[in-house]
Amino acid sequence: MRLTPITSRGRQPKGAQGLGPARCLVTGVAGFVGSHLAEGLVQAGYPVVGVDSFVDYYPRLIKERNLLELRGQSNFQFVEMDLATGDLGRLLDGITHVFHQAGQAGVRASWDADFPRYVVNNILVTQRLLQAVRHAPVQAFVFASSSSIYGNTRELPTSERALPTPVSPYGTTKLAAEHLCRLYAQTFGIPAVSLRYFTVYGPRQRPDMAFHKICSALLDGSEFEIFGGGEQTRDFTYVADIVRANLLAASSAAQNAGRVFNIGGGNRVTLNAVIHLLETLTGRRLKRTVTPQQAGDARHTYADCSAAEAALGFRPEWQLEAGLVAQLASIQERVPA
Ligand SMILES: NC(=O)c1ccc[n+]([C@@H]2O[C@H](COP(=O)([O-])OP(=O)(O)OC[C@H]3O[C@@H](n4cnc5c(N)ncnc54)[C@H](O)[C@@H]3O)[C@@H](O)[C@H]2O)c1
Repeated sequence: MRLTPITSRGRQPKGAQGLGPARCLVTGVAGFVGSHLAEGLVQAGYPVVGVDSFVDYYPRLIKERNLLELRGQSNFQFVEMDLATGDLGRLLDGITHVFHQAGQAGVRASWDADFPRYVVNNILVTQRLLQAVRHAPVQAFVFASSSSIYGNTRELPTSERALPTPVSPYGTTKLAAEHLCRLYAQTFGIPAVSLRYFTVYGPRQRPDMAFHKICSALLDGSEFEIFGGGEQTRDFTYVADIVRANLLAASSAAQNAGRVFNIGGGNRVTLNAVIHLLETLTGRRLKRTVTPQQAGDARHTYADCSAAEAALGFRPEWQLEAGLVAQLASIQERVPA
């Protein structure tokens, strides 16, 4: 079965007009979210510098593919640099808006021996960038934080007032980076805003994430491992909504400096419900094995987005089914039917 793609491409992201004359820096541009965000900015006509170091959490080949569309654009420039060690002063020269998406993703991998990578790529890199923009002032610094900072909160839907209690080392590093953004905003007037993304999905989703694995397993007949029985819930957010939230946050960063906002998709469902929907869309049955819940996984997430709506004018627009159709179609292009 072939599905009609519905992607964010070709659509002008709302909120983009609000940036005025801008030259944007997107960190983590070869990743899932960063590549979509850079495409949105480029399509809106902004000059964009994208930076990435191709950390090996997943293969470079996939990240190079994420960049294909961008590399052909005259208003896009790619810089390969490790933000933990590179010359940030030079990178920031002439930049007016920073979209800091670079990070060490994944909750389960953040235990044990890999933790130093999380400290470096999530905390140290954020501090270096904040320190660098003190000397190269920008109009906006938008940081990609995560719903993982809430852990197993009992407050559902969860507002930004809930006490952060991460259940993974990854979550603690994102929380620390958020605090750095707030500190630099309060102390040095950096217009830093943190957006707490709730599970992002859509075309080019990271290969370690559940929707990607389920779609691939349905299309190539392989087995999907369900951690924790599938009755856990997530508030799933389509990547085009994340792009729009970034643009809205960047256009109002001065008024919201130091603040954090939940960015959710308004699609809170169980993993089993997602599997059922994908089975219906593909007309195939998923082969699955059930294994215990993994350390670091929160049981439920559900965003209260009223603060983002009031301060940024953000409201998610994508329904789960439309977003899943778009993701399935993009994976189908690569997996023979
Ligand atoms: N995808 C989600 O569901 C989700 C949810 C919450 C938060 N986030 C956050 O959003 C951001 C983007 O997530 P993603 O899913 O696109 O992840 P991703 O792994 O696809 O992209 C992150 C990119 O950052 C790059 N990077 C990491 N450290 C770097 C460094 N030191 N220098 C230069 N580049 C570096 C990586 O090479 C990678 O390409 C991350 O910060 C992540 O923590 C993502």
